[in-house]
Amino acid sequence: MKNKGQQNTTVTPRIVYQNKEILRRYAFCMGDNDLDKFIIKGGRRLEGEVSVSGAKNAAVAIIPAVILADGPCILENVPNISDVSISLRILYEMGAQVKTLGYNTFLIDATTITEPIVPYEMAKHMRASYYFLGTLLGKFNRARVSMPGGCYLGDRPIDQHIKAFSALGAQCNLDHGMIDINAGSLIGAQIYFDFVTVGATINTMLAAVKAKGLTVIENAAKEPHVVDLANFLNSMGADIMGAGTDVIKIKGVRSLKGTNYAIIPDQIEAGTYMVAAAATRGNVLIKNVIPKHLESITAKLEKIGATVEEFDDSVRVSVDGPLVRTNIKTMPHPGFPTDMQPQFSTLLCTAAGTSIVTEDIFNNRFRYVEQLRRMGANISIDGKVAVIEGVSYLMGAPVTVPDLRAGAALVIAGLAARGITEIEDIYHIERGYEDIERKLQGLGADISRKSVPGGTSSSHKVAL
Ligand code: EPZ
Repeated sequence: MKNKGQQNTTVTPRIVYQNKEILRRYAFCMGDNDLDKFIIKGGRRLEGEVSVSGAKNAAVAIIPAVILADGPCILENVPNISDVSISLRILYEMGAQVKTLGYNTFLIDATTITEPIVPYEMAKHMRASYYFLGTLLGKFNRARVSMPGGCYLGDRPIDQHIKAFSALGAQCNLDHGMIDINAGSLIGAQIYFDFVTVGATINTMLAAVKAKGLTVIENAAKEPHVVDLANFLNSMGADIMGAGTDVIKIKGVRSLKGTNYAIIPDQIEAGTYMVAAAATRGNVLIKNVIPKHLESITAKLEKIGATVEEFDDSVRVSVDGPLVRTNIKTMPHPGFPTDMQPQFSTLLCTAAGTSIVTEDIFNNRFRYVEQLRRMGANISIDGKVAVIEGVSYLMGAPVTVPDLRAGAALVIAGLAARGITEIEDIYHIERGYEDIERKLQGLGADISRKSVPGGTSSSHKVAL
């Protein structure tokens, strides 16, 4: 997928969906599907081709960033997932025009937003609502956004975000659960993060892009979605250099224009299908990927005995022989991503020998383990370390999804297991995986959805 940069075209929407219609198409936002389950008859090898959608973690940064533009933006390759629905819904409720131009393409005109406020009712659904802080601050020099919700992966403070906003000259206060940020004007600054943080790196770029002078972020995150946001902002006329390295330099510009931009493919969705192929001892071509983004996953798959072939924008994963143990330690990009840890640990459950998985980003990202144990996995946990003794096979069982990537892991376990797995709370999965059921069915999986009528009520719903 190529980024198109600025285009001076007038866009006539073919289909205009507003509010409820957007939400119906981008379906899983407001709770109607909350109680649905996946039923998987496991034991089938996955075979065939699957196409990867746009990156969730890029989309949830780029959608709020549209507020910075002085004209409409067209976003392509927008994934059809509930985190995106929520981001679009927040923009719409704030007064933006949101229209679909075709499948996965949106026209967003946020120039009609006048109040830089995101209330609790909207922010609570999604961790990434914190990106509205940076973007509103960048646009209006003030922002009032509810403290974000968030998948429970352990403590998830935002002190580094606040440190950066303060360095740019803003006053930050917490008032009734709302973060209130005000700056007379934003002045570029040198910001050193105490540790690598994706969210604070992105929020600083959003806030600093129109600040006076130069902002330098040191110890910046290098994730593909950090680079994608920088490319998006640059296509609007920003001056950001160094994204993808640990020093990002942002020269503030006076204004940003509307743009036309295609979001990168989702590294983690791609990795999930790679691991699903290996777990079922299958043979799958995963299309619309950037192989460079997948290197750490590819290296580990090869290490345990899978074959990975790389092409220009696809990878093939196949397994012909036995899989063997390895060790994994999660790290910021380009290290092994924490967002692939649950899926890869699941794969290691049936690899011969003892594998050790160290989770170094979040302090509570093993909540799926008790569900895997119900399926016969032999895993013990000691703090941030999981010790996995390979077993010959997993057995189907009823399980419950605790968070997004854990959900993907349980789907993989169900596909690989003998017998039937019934997976509850799949709304977590729908936050980050477009059409996972249909894509897996296309690879020969026996997966179906059991609709549970009346599934509503989502006070507990938060996204990543
Ligand atoms: C982003 O979360 C992603 N979310 C996560 O994706 C991903 O797991 C994570 O980055 C790491 O790659 C989005 O992009 C919306 P961090 P974020 O700031 O921004 C601590 C998924 O499955 N920290 O890099 O919250 C923090 O608690 C999700 O798609 C502070 O202490 O991650 C964590 O331990 C899950 N203070 C570590 O740093 C701060 O101010 C890294 O967090 C900020 C972070």
